[in-house]
Amino acid sequence: MVRTIAIASGKGGVGKSSVSVNCSILLSKLGYKVALLDADFGMANCHIMLDQKVDNSLHDVLENGAAIENIIYETASGVKLIPGGSGILELLNLDASKRWQIINALNPLKSDIDFLIVDTPAGGSDASIEFAAACENLVVVLVGEPTSFMDAYSFIKAMYLEKNYARVSVLVNLSPSESDARRSYNSFKDIVTKFLDVELEYAGWLPNSSEMKNSILSRKPVVLQNKPNDKILNKNFNDVAKHLENLQPCSLTGIQFFSS
Ligand SMILES: Nc1ncnc2c1ncn2[C@@H]1O[C@H](COP(=O)(O)OP(=O)(O)OP(=O)(O)O)[C@@H](O)[C@H]1O
Ligand SMILES: [Mg+2]
Repeated sequence: MVRTIAIASGKGGVGKSSVSVNCSILLSKLGYKVALLDADFGMANCHIMLDQKVDNSLHDVLENGAAIENIIYETASGVKLIPGGSGILELLNLDASKRWQIINALNPLKSDIDFLIVDTPAGGSDASIEFAAACENLVVVLVGEPTSFMDAYSFIKAMYLEKNYARVSVLVNLSPSESDARRSYNSFKDIVTKFLDVELEYAGWLPNSSEMKNSILSRKPVVLQNKPNDKILNKNFNDVAKHLENLQPCSLTGIQFFSS
């Protein structure tokens, strides 16, 4: 059984791709076989974070009949990367049949991996909702700002109303401290549970760390640094990965990865 986890946020730029890349690597370090689907189609950037040169993407599967095996990149980090394509306009607005084609195209991976991590695009587009709902667990990345709260709430509301998605993990990024992160999480949980019948779980928190910024510039994910300077960042990333490892799958109907 492949465990499938979507990383989403509503608001852009809050750390979805950083969390997806680093947590995929940590799950792989825990001994799991992990694939990372960069579902930010047309604006994909996980390959940059992983310093992986990619020649092909899902565009080649959709338009040129390429087999999924031809666009799976075995990265130096140990994670298999399925790139979403960058600068390819046709991928920006996938219709329902193309989204279904992508979800289906991953089926051959079923016997090869333990985890599929899906880095979803920002916003509440059909693509964000459909790819998140195709996973049995959802992690929403939040930062302690009203705009992030609003967008994360809207995203969870759409998942609940459109897909009956009723359990969500919340990771607080860019937090000054553990107590601040807990405060943000509790305030957010109050808002969500007041209006929606959705159960929230705390997935952990990450500090605002210069090491994270530098890792993008050096194209070496923080959890692969030999001598991590930011001990809190590293410990917390490991805690988040453990949370992902122990998530209980939600029971869902509708189109799911690896369900056929
Ligand atoms: N904990 C952190 N500390 C410092 N910088 C961070 C942290 N998390 C993310 N960043 C920085 O924030 C920026 C956005 O991160 P990232 O690309 O992971 O976000 P995203 O949610 O995937 O964005 P998008 O919505 O554009 O896909 C990057 O420059 C990244 O280095
Ligand atoms: Mg991203």
